[in-house]
Amino acid sequence: MARFLMITATSGANRELADVFVSAATAKGHDAEVVDLAELDLPMFTIANSKDPEKASDAAGLVSAMTEADAWVVIAPEYNGSIPPTLNNALAWMSTSMDWKSFQTLCTGKPVGLATHSGGGGAHVIMAMRQQFSYIGADVIGRACMSGRDKEANPETIDAMIDNLAR
Ligand SMILES: Cc1cc2nc3c(=O)[nH]c(=O)nc-3n(C[C@H](O)[C@H](O)[C@H](O)COP(=O)(O)O)c2cc1C
Repeated sequence: MARFLMITATSGANRELADVFVSAATAKGHDAEVVDLAELDLPMFTIANSKDPEKASDAAGLVSAMTEADAWVVIAPEYNGSIPPTLNNALAWMSTSMDWKSFQTLCTGKPVGLATHSGGGGAHVIMAMRQQFSYIGADVIGRACMSGRDKEANPETIDAMIDNLAR
């Protein structure tokens, strides 16, 4: 049994997709929860804000949920051919909330799956997330779940991703 954290960047169709991933994981006997980065509404990361203890403490809950999970599924819409700001912002907070070595330990080898519900196919945000999460040391699996206005998420892809991530 694995503990999954489904990290959704937005609260609309991507949140719904995160819930589908949770259902698929729990149906297979895994633990799974969702963190909704839009709902979390972290302050914008700036160096000045990162030195303000009140603002910096907002990211602590996210960091501990990410630390406790065995695998992450990151679910985000494509914004202007790339990653939406909530996700980028959360990663900036996370990476500065601990020393570089601890951040490396947290991310290195973490199994990560990628998914999107975007206006178009979402291929660009999947590529951007693959680059980002590989850079921080995560073990990003090859298969990704792409969906959009004209394409439903494929349940077989979701099941296969859960099986691969729970290795
Ligand atoms: C600022 C902004 C930029 C967007 N850029 C793109 C884009 O480059 N490619 C795309 O396919 N859809 C784009 N979209 C559409 C979103 O990806 C799409 O509406 C998505 O389903 C929204 O997810 P949500 O319902 O979870 O908020 C953009 C939407 C916004 C608000």
